[in-house]
Amino acid sequence: MTETTAVAELSRQAAFSADVAEIMNIRKRGETPLAFVRTYGCQQNVADGEKIKGMLFEMGFSFTENQEEADFILFNTCAIREHAEDRIFGNVGALKHIKARNPSVLIAVCGCMMEQEKIAEKMKKSFPFVSIVFGTHVLHQLPEMLYKTVTESKRVFMRGHEQKEIYEGLPVRRDGKFKAWVTLMYGCDNFCTYCIVPHVRGREKSRKSDDIYREFKELVEAGYKEITLLGQNVNSYGKGLEEEINFAKLLERLDSIDGDYRIRFMTSHPKDATPELYDVIAKSRHIPHYIHLPFQSGNDRVLKAMNRHYNREKYLSLVQYARKVMPDISFTSDVIVGFPGETYEEFKDTLTLIEEVGYTSLFTFIFSSRDGTPAAKMPDPVSYKEKTVWFQELLDLQESISAARCGDMVGKKEMVLVENKVEKTGLLSGRTAGNMIVDFPGEDELIGNFAEVTITEAKNYVLKGKLSD
Ligand code: SAH
Ligand code: SF4
Ligand code: F3S
Repeated sequence: MTETTAVAELSRQAAFSADVAEIMNIRKRGETPLAFVRTYGCQQNVADGEKIKGMLFEMGFSFTENQEEADFILFNTCAIREHAEDRIFGNVGALKHIKARNPSVLIAVCGCMMEQEKIAEKMKKSFPFVSIVFGTHVLHQLPEMLYKTVTESKRVFMRGHEQKEIYEGLPVRRDGKFKAWVTLMYGCDNFCTYCIVPHVRGREKSRKSDDIYREFKELVEAGYKEITLLGQNVNSYGKGLEEEINFAKLLERLDSIDGDYRIRFMTSHPKDATPELYDVIAKSRHIPHYIHLPFQSGNDRVLKAMNRHYNREKYLSLVQYARKVMPDISFTSDVIVGFPGETYEEFKDTLTLIEEVGYTSLFTFIFSSRDGTPAAKMPDPVSYKEKTVWFQELLDLQESISAARCGDMVGKKEMVLVENKVEKTGLLSGRTAGNMIVDFPGEDELIGNFAEVTITEAKNYVLKGKLSD
């Protein structure tokens, strides 16, 4: 598909969108139809959810948090771990009662889970009250799918068409007023052996830097204070584009835009991280000295079996270089416990790596077998129960490190983006450059702005502070 056919396809969808708006208007006798949209999973899915809301808004919908009053209910699903999938099946199952009470409600399920054939089939067979099932590659066709269900009273199933083109210009309804996402790239080419993402999101595709720059600048001009750049591996941004660009250069270009804002990004894969990237961050005006750098395992054999394409030494040398150019940098990471064949000895290498780096916090996962991935076929002799014991050991270690990292913060002055007021305590709550939460007394007007806060206390991994004089 070429760029012009993508434009033609979007204008075809716009015609469906206008028709759906008209039909819903008649069905609702002039009342605004309401949509309930629930997104699970990573920020990429959240960004997709905002596009879905954008399309629904153009079709005349407003939004509700109450399923009972909705005319359209959509679940945007995540397939990353079995537990995530089970929860979603449970929640979709519960919609049966809503459909029984309100037969005219339209129910749709989309997202990563639906790009797996078996799961989509199960949805089709076991949940007859679900009218629309679609995968990540056909998101832009939502108006057409809705049109078909409302005009032909048929169930619609769409998935599995690898998207060759990026659909620029889809409408977006952003959830946040001062925090926003900008997608840099879609899909993933890394095929880590445990991971379902490349199988459900397709091949990696980067957006043109001019399109990204335009969207980013608009957000800065609209007053957004924190813009997070998204991709499964932002460090390989630019691959396959005609222009001469990489992630470090893109960051430099975005950082040159004047304004009162912060740039975050995720996820940074260690295999493609470069010293140049850290040099750019060190010199930047808007990028906090903080990196989420998933290591997954501290053992070289396990890393190889995971197909991560780096070893412990390379990972630690990246951390060391970043610390050399930014002594105040902080790190968070993702880690998997109990990858098939991992021994306790190998797991201990994960613990020593955690100690060596001293993360402020960790996203921790027990390996979950995903159908269709190479790891699902690997011998996995350690019981789940045993893995939970290792997992607890890791959590205990990280808890003590997090407590120490929090303690280090006391007395420091931090630029905090104020996010909300905590109802229970009446304190404002925000995040430091290093993404740590800090609570402090202050006026509501500060919400959505930066404030300089002096950290006064670190208790149970929560920082307390006061506005700096
Ligand atoms: N693209 C990102 C990760 C996205 S998925 C990266 O490579 O860093 C987020 C995290 O979920 C991963 O970093 C990994 O720690 C975890 N994860 C992915 N698949 C998993 C599985 N099958 N079992 C357990 N954890 C998994
Ligand atoms: Fe999954 Fe690896 Fe791609 Fe991350 S880089 S999404 S872990 S395959
Ligand atoms: Fe889940 Fe899909 Fe993200 S599987 S983690 S929502 S890319």
